[in-house]
Amino acid sequence: MKRLWDKGQPLDERILRYTAGEDHVLDGRLVPYDVRASIAHARMLHEQKLLSDQDFRAIRTGLESLAASHAAGEWTISLQEEDVHTALEQRLTAMAGEAGRRIHLGRSRNDQVLAALRLYLQDAAEDLAAAAEKLASALDALAEREADTELPGYTHMQQAMPSSVQLWAGGFATELRDDAAAIRATHRRISRNPLGSAAGYGAPGLPIDREATRRALGFDTIHEPVTAVQLSRGKAEAALVFELTVSMQDLGRLASDLLLFYTQEFRFVALPESMTTGSSIMPQKRNPDVLELVRGAGATLNGCLTEILGLQAKLGSGYQRDLQRVKAPLFRAIDLSADSLAIIEYLVGGLRFLPENIRMDPGVHAAGRANRLVLEEGISFREAYQRVGRELAGGDGGAA
Ligand code: ARG
Repeated sequence: MKRLWDKGQPLDERILRYTAGEDHVLDGRLVPYDVRASIAHARMLHEQKLLSDQDFRAIRTGLESLAASHAAGEWTISLQEEDVHTALEQRLTAMAGEAGRRIHLGRSRNDQVLAALRLYLQDAAEDLAAAAEKLASALDALAEREADTELPGYTHMQQAMPSSVQLWAGGFATELRDDAAAIRATHRRISRNPLGSAAGYGAPGLPIDREATRRALGFDTIHEPVTAVQLSRGKAEAALVFELTVSMQDLGRLASDLLLFYTQEFRFVALPESMTTGSSIMPQKRNPDVLELVRGAGATLNGCLTEILGLQAKLGSGYQRDLQRVKAPLFRAIDLSADSLAIIEYLVGGLRFLPENIRMDPGVHAAGRANRLVLEEGISFREAYQRVGRELAGGDGGAA
């Protein structure tokens, strides 16, 4: 198997293994996007009279059939193929002959990988935003099912004021909808056409039409000048992973509340047995492992974000192979966020509150009573506060 850049000298197998790394596995998800971007590039070459009708048709048909057979599980990228770009060109050439050897005119794998990644990121961001909104809707449904259930509101882990399941769930639902909006807002950094920048310095001597590929792929703008493109690799990725990290922190806080509510001491909530796990030694245990794993996911996301930010920091201009390493933490963060949002949505569907176990400390009404005294008697808040404090200390039940 030859690499795209082979000029006759065999590649040391150990060097291939190390440099290709995980790409042959990671790039699998980029196949449909690299195909779309490659067809847009070929159409542009054809419009610019750099590719004949016949060659363009052979390329388009060949790439479409490769996308279909990949989706059907008929082939995967092999280590020998190095990455998605090589796999597609080699396989296209095997199918379409000489036409396949013409597709790489005016591009590099470095603008190619960015085009595929950005198309993928647009879909991933939309799916993740929709998943956050679906979880928000599941919390709305919980609030409706538990419309009459009161809850103590806690600060410092101490009962503070009266609250309710509606207020508790409503707070998380609002934050998750805001997370969804922030995830969608990463679009601004993602939606820029990298094609035509090639290895970072354009394609000298060729009439590359960057507007044509922009239009065909639906990017908002052309990423200009060509030197900006490689400087941006990792930035849209970091922006998305940052938003996913704060979303996972919301899930972590929701999980923390539920873990407390699920203890034997609280027993505010019940989960179906099918959603908890058992212990290998303690026959009585039903453990809320899902909540703990979701709480831990925030740490993984944080690590992915740090990794992405660290990779791009201090690199000089132009493509450098370090940037390949952005893909692993990016995909890991996306997959873990999608899985966590979906599993919490499922779990919230099975959650039931147990009002018989929810006891409010009478003290939770103290601030409300002080406020009422201000309204009724026109005294200062500080005076009302002190009076209610004395009533509580005297145990005369005045705060009810
Ligand atoms: N797998 C590479 C990446 O993700 C694609 C570009 C490789 N380019 C190169 N000149 N070696 O960055």
